Amino acid sequence: MSRASDFVVVANRLPVDRVVGEDGEPSWRRSPGGLVSAIAPLMRRRHGTWIGWAGAPDERLEPFEEDGMSLVPVHQSAEDVELYYEGFSNATLWPLYHDVVAPPVYDRAMWDAYVRVNERFAEVAADVAAKGAMVWVQDYQLQLVPAMLRRLRPDLRIGFFLHIPFPPLELFWQLPWRRQILEGLLGADLVGFQLPGAAQNFVRLCRRLLDARTFKQDVFWDGRTVRARAFPISVDAEELQKLTEDPGVRRRAAEIREDFGDARLLLGVDRLDYTKGITQRLEAFGELFRDGELRPGEAVFIQIATPSRERVEQYQLLRDQIEQQVGHINGEHGELGTPVIHYLHTSYDRAELAALYLAADVMVVTPLRDGMNLVAKEYVACREDLGGALVLSEFAGAAAELKRAYQVNPYDIDGLKKSLLDALRDHPAEQGRRMRAMRRRVLEHDVDRWARDFLASLEEPSPPAAMGREA
Ligand code: ADP
Ligand code: G6P
Repeated sequence: MSRASDFVVVANRLPVDRVVGEDGEPSWRRSPGGLVSAIAPLMRRRHGTWIGWAGAPDERLEPFEEDGMSLVPVHQSAEDVELYYEGFSNATLWPLYHDVVAPPVYDRAMWDAYVRVNERFAEVAADVAAKGAMVWVQDYQLQLVPAMLRRLRPDLRIGFFLHIPFPPLELFWQLPWRRQILEGLLGADLVGFQLPGAAQNFVRLCRRLLDARTFKQDVFWDGRTVRARAFPISVDAEELQKLTEDPGVRRRAAEIREDFGDARLLLGVDRLDYTKGITQRLEAFGELFRDGELRPGEAVFIQIATPSRERVEQYQLLRDQIEQQVGHINGEHGELGTPVIHYLHTSYDRAELAALYLAADVMVVTPLRDGMNLVAKEYVACREDLGGALVLSEFAGAAAELKRAYQVNPYDIDGLKKSLLDALRDHPAEQGRRMRAMRRRVLEHDVDRWARDFLASLEEPSPPAAMGREA
């Protein structure tokens, strides 16, 4: 491979997954999750190179072009997938970084695989990047890559962005490999987080755990200054706006509304993940029927959940739990031909999602912890009509920006019920005021601005390490 690219993104996943159909024919499908939603539009515009995994074990693929992007696949064996991806990334780091809402697994073989696969990503990046190139490493699966890459290619400008929360010291301390992770991240020139609190957690940990000198949000390490900063990620508002202006999407939204007659529509759109608070929102909704606040036919909940990380135990448990819960609530409160919850374990294309956002009276986003949550911002970006209401967890990063949402603590089922009712019953003029304020924020701070801010900051020369004062 030639050292050709001036701008390289390194992420565990490519923006497309290779899937083989029943007829044995391979095709490409958009990969799940917020990282891909955010980075893909930017890469199309900047013509960078994206290094990542194509989503299936044991495949060795050549670099290729897709949708205006240069993609460089990184191989993962079945064992890597089990130990590095499903294991250390998604059974250790994911729950640890999300408030330990599920117990993290600490396993040495998983850690070894994490080191091995991070090394592979760093080697491919070192191969692909042109002299002095900018390399932007993404997310918790690749926290060792910045330091590994710097060792291989000290000429590069290296940025890192964490899409998920960064935990407070008291939780991070549990991790048997806590030093190595911090040292891995400190290989970057700029480490980006969703919120200022996460950047503060990181700097505090560097001070306490590594004994590093720090000043405000700068860490002095290995003769360099590493900056930790917050860059709240966002959505491609322009793309969504265009979608909602499409006559086909509008027709589809009207059709969805017609299908449900006079019922008010509540909507949930998530990866099927235990951090998303899906069971809590369904429990609250079900209780509103039990309490006589809602009657079947008066309101319907559409929950769409993309299959995710299906071989990880906690995800299997959650799937069973939700299926049981939906069956139970529909059995108790639904009527013949009128279930109160429509649960779809599938993913939809962007146009269908936009139609659903347009059709929904109340968008329900209730994660127990979430780095940002792009679904909340997508809903807001789609509602140019100023209709609809957003119920949003206080524990989503987006809550810091979307202050006029109906904010809830998802652990408080009574509070959640009250917010759902307020969102259903408040006057449309009040809804419009709230939506207008939220739209102002999302349209001004879209994903393009996020990327520009991060990359401009990465380009700035780092302050000399000697300038730092002891904190
Ligand atoms: P996460 O990154 O944890 O999955 P986000 O809310 O930040 O959570 O991003 C999820 C992204 O995936 C959004 O762009 C959303 O539109 C998309 N998405 C979520 N669920 C579905 C679904 N069922 N079908 C299609 N896209 C989905
Ligand atoms: C979140 C993570 C991403 C991840 C995505 C989908 O958005 O921050 O890094 O790619 O979820 O998860 P998956 O495990 O399918 O890649």
